[in-house]
Amino acid sequence: MIPADDELGPAARRLAAARRVVVFTGAGVSKESGIATFRDSEDALWDKYDPMEMATMEGFVRDPSYVWSWYQYRFGLIDDCRPNPAHVAIAELERLIPELTVVTQNVDGLHQRGGSSTVLELHGSMHRFKCLHGRHTGFTREQIEKWRGRPPRCPACGELVRPDVVWFGEMLPEDVLEEAFRLARRCDVMLVVGTSGVVQPAALLPQAARETHAFVIDVNPERGESARAAHMFLQGAAGEVLPRLLQATRELAAQNGMPI
Ligand code: OAD
Repeated sequence: MIPADDELGPAARRLAAARRVVVFTGAGVSKESGIATFRDSEDALWDKYDPMEMATMEGFVRDPSYVWSWYQYRFGLIDDCRPNPAHVAIAELERLIPELTVVTQNVDGLHQRGGSSTVLELHGSMHRFKCLHGRHTGFTREQIEKWRGRPPRCPACGELVRPDVVWFGEMLPEDVLEEAFRLARRCDVMLVVGTSGVVQPAALLPQAARETHAFVIDVNPERGESARAAHMFLQGAAGEVLPRLLQATRELAAQNGMPI
């Protein structure tokens, strides 16, 4: 199911008139690249794996090899996949809007690979690594793959090394979170794409945007929690809806005499 042109028109008009846009994304935006979401689908990760084992400090310390093997599997998936039309459309939208920031809960790096230039990663990145207590950070996969010993250990302190992602029970990076809320409170439009809207504090961003003054548009195949703060719900897969929304916004920008 995809929205009709008369539904996309009003959303495109908001975007074409906006000076500041935040695109807030979740796992659904990467679904059409072949990366499973955490919830709400037949191959959902948290239905197959226990998040308390795979995504907590306690689970990691209990069985680091098991958690690492899960990440190895996910690295393989990410290496083999490509940004999909939704990532590309979001990157292209940058050319039409004076200030556009992607705020993502995803750790896959696909927005950057799709061409987006400003991406705030609320839940960290699977492409960076740090030692257990975060004293030594910024290791790359190339580095850790060269180290002997599995699971890898920090060459500086000998602690276990882990992906620099936010696990359950952990704080989000404070500077990134603050910047995300600052941008949410000053944007004209927030485009919410492919998130269930149930994981805090990220899930509060659309409401924060709406309460200030933004027009909030939610894109998702299912109307769920994330649509609560939205003024407009565009039902459909991100890879189908966003390229059409981009095209409609481009046409309006061209009519307004904007170079495209
Ligand atoms: P979820 O897995 O909770 O939700 C995915 C959303 O994507 C659902 O609302 C789906 O309906 C929607 N969806 C599925 N296919 C889609 C498509 N083709 N286009 C658009 N939307 C689609 O993912 P998140 O909301 O990102 O946290 O989950 C938030 C956090 O929960 C994650 O960052 C992760 C997880 O536990 C941590 O690991 C800390």
